[in-house]
Amino acid sequence: MTAHELTSSDFTDANEPFSLFGTWLKDAEESEVNDPTAVALATVDPDGLPNLRMVLLKGFDERGFVFYTNFESQKGREILATPKAAMCFHWKSLRRQVRLRGPVEIVSDEEADEYFKTRPRGSRIGAWASKQSRPLESRFALEKSVAEYTARYAIGEIPRPQYWSGFRIRPISIEFWHDRPFRLHDRIEFRRAAPEGGWTKVRMYP
Ligand SMILES: Cc1cc2nc3c(=O)[nH]c(=O)nc-3n(C[C@H](O)[C@H](O)[C@H](O)COP(=O)(O)O)c2cc1C
Repeated sequence: MTAHELTSSDFTDANEPFSLFGTWLKDAEESEVNDPTAVALATVDPDGLPNLRMVLLKGFDERGFVFYTNFESQKGREILATPKAAMCFHWKSLRRQVRLRGPVEIVSDEEADEYFKTRPRGSRIGAWASKQSRPLESRFALEKSVAEYTARYAIGEIPRPQYWSGFRIRPISIEFWHDRPFRLHDRIEFRRAAPEGGWTKVRMYP
């Protein structure tokens, strides 16, 4: 058995999802070639048409799963209009998947400020320079915008743009999936009626 192989007790012993997620993410950090926190994020537009793109998970705890973005981007506008979302991690090196869904809240200004300060200077400038998801006439226009903000914030702290912050998905369902031979995969879903409630664990047919 390799370090990252699971025993069935990994599933049967877990009675809440967050510590199991933490273990799996740690395994992924050791085994993925890059971006172990990369996750597909699904939202819906006002017509109920789903939308999907990758983001990086920047934090998780019992409150939920946090990522950061431009609130004026397509995903930002969709979540602000319909504060519900889903995520799906797939760690190829581990042959494991985790999916979760639930209502979304905005992280506090303090939490967003704290995270923004940890970003490389270039990324903080980029948050100002990019009108994410809106038409860009040329690469040059983006570079010009970067140069302008680099000059504006040449000295001192770079503040967090008001439109740039984090969303937290407060899961009502988290499913763990692990590849097993002959497509007889292991699946366990933790469910609850509302984000504050206790979890029910259900094993499912693959
Ligand atoms: C691996 C990966 C990680 C990404 N992480 C983020 C992220 O954390 N936040 C973000 O706004 N965009 C991230 N992006 C870019 C998004 O996928 C997307 O292109 C962008 O946010 C615009 O999406 P939207 O038009 O649906 O709002 C990432 C892309 C990739 C491929």
